[in-house]
Amino acid sequence: MTGLEDKLRRLIAAVGPISVADYMSLVLSDPEHGYYTTRTAIGLEGDFITAPEISQMFGELIGIWCVAAYEALGRPRQVTLAELGPGRGTLMADLLRAGRVDPGFIRAAEVHLVEISPELRRRQANCLSGLASPVWHDRIDDLPDGPLIVVANEFFDALPIRQFVRGQRGWRERVVGLDDQDNLAFGIGAAAPDLALLPLGASEAPVGAVAEINRPAEAIIASLAHRLVQFGGAALVLDYGHVKSGFGETLQAVRAHHYADPLSEPGECDLTAHVDFDRLARAAGTEGASVLGPVTQGNFLLAMGLAERAGALGAGRNAEDQQNIVAAVDRLAGPEEMGTLFKAMAVTHPPMELPGF
Ligand SMILES: C[S@@+](CC[C@H](N)C(=O)[O-])C[C@H]1O[C@@H](n2cnc3c(N)ncnc32)[C@H](O)[C@@H]1O
Repeated sequence: MTGLEDKLRRLIAAVGPISVADYMSLVLSDPEHGYYTTRTAIGLEGDFITAPEISQMFGELIGIWCVAAYEALGRPRQVTLAELGPGRGTLMADLLRAGRVDPGFIRAAEVHLVEISPELRRRQANCLSGLASPVWHDRIDDLPDGPLIVVANEFFDALPIRQFVRGQRGWRERVVGLDDQDNLAFGIGAAAPDLALLPLGASEAPVGAVAEINRPAEAIIASLAHRLVQFGGAALVLDYGHVKSGFGETLQAVRAHHYADPLSEPGECDLTAHVDFDRLARAAGTEGASVLGPVTQGNFLLAMGLAERAGALGAGRNAEDQQNIVAAVDRLAGPEEMGTLFKAMAVTHPPMELPGF
């Protein structure tokens, strides 16, 4: 039994079943045993690979996007360049290298990283040494005031979701409790949720339908949008998810590049859920910000010049390197790989025309 499983069993025995959101929060961010707080999960030797770890081209194209956002902002003397959940720091490093095409952008950019994991903060410091002197924060509310450019890749999918299940007697919240043998088990809570929380059509949904809502994600995007409206700026969100709110279960666990049971070995597996871009866009719009997209990651990267960048990177290289570059393009933008499932969405103020959308 993992240390976290023991802690969870004792907690549930004492207070009763907990929501899926509380379970996910503890699994990912428990200060002592949490998945992100205790390890470098990302990379070949970790549990999963993210787009910046597939190829430098991903971060480079995002760097070009940030330069365009800086230009659209009127080239302020100083701009906060923030990344949410920067992982190993690879995206920011590639972004800053590509951003050198505009020395004014690099001079103006102050790098701020929002990261909960002490282990990953160390990785990020190493990766960015010589490129930037980042300032770390636990929460986006601690970012400094002023014009802002934000990047978040596979950040929102790591935030805790609540799940609701339609039963014979209406909607109920899914909870994590203990079974007869004291093992962690999903169950159904007693209280009926406020239907306004659930996607449209909830009252007509069939028995067995599942709805997921991610309140922290909506709160974070609303708070970001509020800042953008106050100070001017743009945020780019890339993640896997859907463009229209609906019903379906997407909570998943991954360990060593394979799917796992979300309740087995808590703290040892990554837990994620699809991002509801519809709700994120509405939360940003409520604050008065403009939204571009969402578009598929494939379309975004191709519109940003992925094919041209791949051609330039491969020029003069040997056949094996060129094959690797072609494979990376396919993984990032191919419809069977990350190209369709992953989406890109931007939130801006004032309204801007930005490349990729
Ligand atoms: C799936 S990883 C993505 C990493 C990176 N963006 C990439 O593409 O490789 C999620 C990142 O978000 C961080 N994270 C997760 N929950 C967080 C939270 N509530 N606040 C700040 N960072 C968080 C993790 O530690 C990790 O750096």
